Amino acid sequence: MAPDHGRGATVDSGLLTKTATAIAYVDGTFLPAAEAKVSVLDRGFLFADGVYEVVPAYGGKAFALKEHLARLARSLRELQIANPHAEAEWVALAQQLVERNGGGDCMIYFQVTRGAPEKRAHAFPAGARPTVVGLCSALPAPSEATMRDGVSAITRPDIRWGRCDIKSVALLPNILATQAAAEQACNEAILHRDGRVTEGASSNVFAVLGKSVVTPPKGPDILSGITREVVLEALRAAKVPVQERRLMLNELRSADEIWLTSSTREVLPVTKLDGDPVGSRKPGPVWKKAYAAFQERKSVSSRGA
Ligand code: PDD
Repeated sequence: MAPDHGRGATVDSGLLTKTATAIAYVDGTFLPAAEAKVSVLDRGFLFADGVYEVVPAYGGKAFALKEHLARLARSLRELQIANPHAEAEWVALAQQLVERNGGGDCMIYFQVTRGAPEKRAHAFPAGARPTVVGLCSALPAPSEATMRDGVSAITRPDIRWGRCDIKSVALLPNILATQAAAEQACNEAILHRDGRVTEGASSNVFAVLGKSVVTPPKGPDILSGITREVVLEALRAAKVPVQERRLMLNELRSADEIWLTSSTREVLPVTKLDGDPVGSRKPGPVWKKAYAAFQERKSVSSRGA
């Protein structure tokens, strides 16, 4: 049975009822998500002219929030959208969203767009105020079967633009790749360009090649994942050799282990790639180490350390 994360409850009721409505945030107001609306003139809707963040919260406490907010600030800067909030305001907003949605393990979604001017025109509008949306939903722990057996992935050409380091809401290539994976009952599409692995459609990719863990380097081809950084730090602390370098698709195909990292997947072992077994066909020993180190960091965070 899926774990009960107390979703949908409100702080006001003080009860973790399943019937209470999810609470969203739109431009200064908290309201039931089903009633939350933005304008049809919003540039996020018309042009995908906006950015987002997904922040996991464990035990009601946002994980690596400062890092996520720094990335949000950078994405906004890169698109020349004024950051509508100071860091402390974002922190308070994240906390309120989690509390109003009943705490527990959940994911916070923030989206900021260039706003809703009076008419549709491509160039930046003068004086538009960014639109801020916040959502919060359950973050179910990976199932026992997933942890025991791993997941399957496919590979796809990476057809995205040249600034994948910006966490833009323009995700159509990612969505098409994810759908192709879903149609083959796979958890992720691993993207490649010119023979190199870039990243997953919504995750970063790690491969164990002999004694080293390899992951593609930061740059315009990938989103610099917060989970990726946490895992790299944990591996280095555990003295596991890591290399941030080009990872060729043919190397991936013969890897001993493959993992995906993201705020919603944590560190997820891939045991089948394009229908072929990966390594020993089971989540591997290096993954076990990385997963355990990640769980340790989660529990330290949720204890408030
Ligand atoms: N996606 N690469 C891409 C393209 C992503 O969309 C994501 C996360 C990541 C991993 O980043 P992080 O570890 O900071 O979550 C890498 C989120 C979860 C999403 O779009 O839902």
